[in-house]
Amino acid sequence: MQSGSFVEVDSEKQANCSGECKIQQCIFGEDLPCKALFENMFNGFAYCKIITDEKNEPVDFKYIMVNDSFERLTGLKKADVVGKTVTEAIKGIKEVHPELLDIYGRVALTGKKEQFEVYFKPLDIWLLISAYCPKKGYFSVVFDNITEQKQVEEKLEEYSRGLEYTVAARTRELSEVNDRLVKAERFAAIGELAGMVGHDLRNPLTAIKNAVYYVDRKQGVSMDAKTKEMFKVINSSINHANKIIDNLLEYSKEISLEIEEATPKSLLDYILLMVQIPDHIKIRDRTQDQPTIWVDSNKMERVFINLIKNAIDAMPEKGTLEVRSRQIGENIEFTFTDTGIGMSEQTKSKLFMPLFTTKAQGMGFGLAICKRIVEAHGGKISVESTLGKGTTFAVTIPVEQKLKVKGNGYNFS
Ligand SMILES: Nc1ncnc2c1ncn2[C@@H]1O[C@H](COP(=O)(O)OP(=O)(O)OP(=O)(O)O)[C@@H](O)[C@H]1O
Ligand SMILES: [Mg+2]
Repeated sequence: MQSGSFVEVDSEKQANCSGECKIQQCIFGEDLPCKALFENMFNGFAYCKIITDEKNEPVDFKYIMVNDSFERLTGLKKADVVGKTVTEAIKGIKEVHPELLDIYGRVALTGKKEQFEVYFKPLDIWLLISAYCPKKGYFSVVFDNITEQKQVEEKLEEYSRGLEYTVAARTRELSEVNDRLVKAERFAAIGELAGMVGHDLRNPLTAIKNAVYYVDRKQGVSMDAKTKEMFKVINSSINHANKIIDNLLEYSKEISLEIEEATPKSLLDYILLMVQIPDHIKIRDRTQDQPTIWVDSNKMERVFINLIKNAIDAMPEKGTLEVRSRQIGENIEFTFTDTGIGMSEQTKSKLFMPLFTTKAQGMGFGLAICKRIVEAHGGKISVESTLGKGTTFAVTIPVEQKLKVKGNGYNFS
């Protein structure tokens, strides 16, 4: 009655078996090589009988034989399991792993083999288990402790998740840098073009201005009032066009800084002397005379003058402008807070674009130039504004400048 390497076990014969040697003899018969194989194999091995209830449902199983590797891999002693049911040998097993009894019951009762991985909670190990049926009502399991392999897999998965995250983050950064580069290149090209157009417009404008002057001088006395009015319009339009060209050239030329020592207060004091503050505007100067900063004072003054002028324009009736300075780490932050008309989201989104203005007499170059100057200092300019309530511009620049001397001026890396 031989099936594979097993001797079909006669239940009666087995029931009379006692002692490990005898049990093994029942299972392997006289097949000594086979017996030696199971004793010496690296995999754990257990031969068990399924125990069913009156409805033939599996409720427990009994260990009939286990090999040395079973002991080594599970840490359970042969003497504590052989001849015992699993519920006796491993307390709480049914509650923790009810699925095992289902699987072994299926294998022992249907004869179909199954293979699965399980994290075996009572022993805190991962097992790869192959279960098959040598005889109806019995099952054998061959298993391996795959805890280390599982830990490596988990680590790998963790690394791969981390890697995926890092790759996604880097890809995002790269695409942002790329967008910025494309934008910067476009702006540089537009800037260069604007500079050239501005330059080229200068000569014809000067020619027009001279021609107008000539005609005005020649015909001045005999001109009627309407024509005189028209000449005034031509002259002021030429001046306006010239200012636009000045701004265009200023905006498009490379910025080189002449760095000198200053303090937040010294910059503001000078500006407040230069700018005429209307009577209906109250200025609160909260700038500090610390720390000493290194800036191109002329250029930073231009930035602050434009911010102050904008704030004044935003408070046509009355209002307060507060200027503050404070050191944040290696940077100095200036804030200009007005109680003016504020701005819409649409205005905010176009604020730093050249030629954007909402003012009848505005050029729309103020903030665009401010941004260039602040960025040339390695700084940032930002805005917060609420329509009808007011606006705060914040200018942050490093206290110290990393200088690279180029020609007569300084260029920044
Ligand atoms: N403090 C502020 N409050 C409300 N709106 C502001 C403020 N500062 C700037 N703006 C808005 O931003 C626009 C652009 O300002 P920017 O200084 O660049 O140009 P401008 O003042 O219009 O003209 P320019 O400064 O060239 O004479 C302004 O026209 C205005 O609509
Ligand atoms: Mg302005």
